[in-house]
Amino acid sequence: MTDMSELTLEEKAALGSGSDFRHTQAIDRLGVPAVMLTDGPHGLRKQLGPSDNLGMNPAVPATCFPPAVALASSFDVELAERVGAAIGTEAVIEGVAVVLGPGVNIKRSPLCGRNFEYFSEDPVVAAAFGTALVKGIQSQGVGASLKHFAANNQETDRMRISADVDPRPLREVYLRAFQRVVQEARPETVMCSYNRINGRYASEDPWLLTRVLREEWGFEGLVVSDWGAVDDRVAAAAAGLDLEMPSSGGRSDAQLAAAVRAGALEEQVLDRIAERVLALAERERPAPGGKLDVDGHHALAREAAARSIVLLKNEDELLPLAPSARIAVIGEFARTPRYQGAGSSHIAATRVDTALEAIGETAQALAFAPGFRLDGQDDPGLAAEAVRIAGEAELAVVFLGLPDQDESEGFDRGDIRLPAAQLALLDAVVAAQPRTVVVLSNGGVVELPFAGTVPAIVEGWLLGQAGGSALADVLFGRVNPSGRLAETIPLRLEDTPAFLDFPGEAGHVRYGEGLFVGYRWYEARRLPVAFPFGHGLSYTSFDYGTPSAVQTPSGDVEVTLAVSNTGQRPGREVVQLYASLPGSAYTRPPRELKAFANVPLEPGETREVTLVLRRDDLAVWDQRLDRWILESGSYRIEAGASSADIRASTEVVVSGDEVRLPLTWHSSLAELLAHPVAGPAARAALPTADEAMLRMISSIPLRRLVAMGVPEEGLAQLIALDAEGGASEAAGV
Ligand code: BGC
Repeated sequence: MTDMSELTLEEKAALGSGSDFRHTQAIDRLGVPAVMLTDGPHGLRKQLGPSDNLGMNPAVPATCFPPAVALASSFDVELAERVGAAIGTEAVIEGVAVVLGPGVNIKRSPLCGRNFEYFSEDPVVAAAFGTALVKGIQSQGVGASLKHFAANNQETDRMRISADVDPRPLREVYLRAFQRVVQEARPETVMCSYNRINGRYASEDPWLLTRVLREEWGFEGLVVSDWGAVDDRVAAAAAGLDLEMPSSGGRSDAQLAAAVRAGALEEQVLDRIAERVLALAERERPAPGGKLDVDGHHALAREAAARSIVLLKNEDELLPLAPSARIAVIGEFARTPRYQGAGSSHIAATRVDTALEAIGETAQALAFAPGFRLDGQDDPGLAAEAVRIAGEAELAVVFLGLPDQDESEGFDRGDIRLPAAQLALLDAVVAAQPRTVVVLSNGGVVELPFAGTVPAIVEGWLLGQAGGSALADVLFGRVNPSGRLAETIPLRLEDTPAFLDFPGEAGHVRYGEGLFVGYRWYEARRLPVAFPFGHGLSYTSFDYGTPSAVQTPSGDVEVTLAVSNTGQRPGREVVQLYASLPGSAYTRPPRELKAFANVPLEPGETREVTLVLRRDDLAVWDQRLDRWILESGSYRIEAGASSADIRASTEVVVSGDEVRLPLTWHSSLAELLAHPVAGPAARAALPTADEAMLRMISSIPLRRLVAMGVPEEGLAQLIALDAEGGASEAAGV
């Protein structure tokens, strides 16, 4: 690596920002190369001419894999890692050093315009997929960029909004996935988000970028800004932001150098920045070039897409379709697929399969009608033609979805409804042909007002370039569906957790639902939903045995259970383990996913599976102590086929961390009485107090008891017992 002492102050400052839209700075006199960073996350978007981060200018052809919304529904991390490796391979061919992804932000509201790029409403799912993709991408010698760090859960006012989040949800929901990916997959870079968190820009937050990311989690890579996220370059550098992107045209380089000269910024900060950029730019990488295996990667995109499809409903086994059935294929999306979202992640696909063609390759008798226009304009002629062919067929497959213009990076949706013309068309088709299958294409969840009437519903999300053939694979049963919902489909927007607090006002969005995001909310409030988190049907059926659970010496909980395929076809069951702690001292959702496994099973086969619930995932953030606590107690472990379909459960005694709050004059009487040393002494001093009286006064802080006549000296002696007991590690809290 270039010797730091050879760099001038100006050169160090220059390394801290891009040379253009996509490259770091080269230093020719020292042979430091410029390297390219480019999107991500579900394929490579390397633009040929001028670059932009809105996906406008053309890019080199690349494989468009299923975007995160779909891939997470596969609940298969091994598959995701293979997809990551394929993206890494394409990056190598194109000489790209860093792929800008994956994004592990939590789907706080279904309205977020960028939900198609994010995995889940659940942090354990987001963590698992983020880890798999980073590992896959980096296995090819290319860096990944974990984004958008952090609490970037909406597009509205995304460059200024302050996400006001309490410590527990921040740690347990919004930072958990970042923490896991950083610690387990070691991404070369982390991309800080545009927004502010509790009032402070992520790009300027020393707590976020240095204390949490580096000191607590041990991150050793480089922090890059989201494109244009830097407001004050000097403050950002001091906070821990290394590379500002894109180029500032030299402006912020000059500010950094001037700040060092004026003594406003330590030169060491610039040294660290330069070191990290050099480490990234000079890292040994595979030689660029080689031929893209277009067919091989397309086949992987098809496999991943088929595994991501979620069969929501299948009454009377309407699916799979018989090739001999006379099928009416209806809906423009069958011919003009919507397979990815808009914005910086937009891929120039190497090819695109349409469902219409793919169904046509298998179906012996097929009629097609587009049924509606993608621009939302009414077209009664199109609808009438669709109804006619539906009535003449043995069954109808209706492709509905959100058109491109409805969801994108840069803005949020205003509702979660499908276009009215499509819903009206469906009603008319079902009236003519009750044997109707709906296939959905959407990046964010939509309300399904027809869920009660239509016998079969397939959630196809945005499936990438091979989505059309993958849908045909599932519809005809060549692939047995095994996708599961990584987010709840609510009945109505008004039921969703952030409904009253999204997208905020006056520059602030309050995360008022706290920990209760996604299914945590619906379960706690006992709200009915259209389809619960984790739900997904198969063409076969599964049985669960009784789980057994034990805590291992490291604090993890190991759960073993048997799963059987009781049907006639090979299939995959996604076993989900939820944990809860009845009687917990902390506020907790009724159940939280802590582990899952994707289990392939032949008909009649039974497998014992062992899943690990990590100590770290079982821990809660104690905001009084400012640290993670694994609470001791008897945990309930539930094995479910969804968050609302628990098949078997067990209990496991967990021995956790001791939670000792230091005794102070602000401790309550109850806290004094609960203290292991001072408590018994206090009780001895109160021999005559009856329980009812104690309960009434238990919340009174010790200092106030003095005013009520309790001798100060006696209390002081009791408080001192705590210090003597050596439990003062959290003193001052
Ligand atoms: C997006 C990032 C993206 C970057 C570079 C930004 O607008 O938020 O996700 O990686 O542009 O294209």
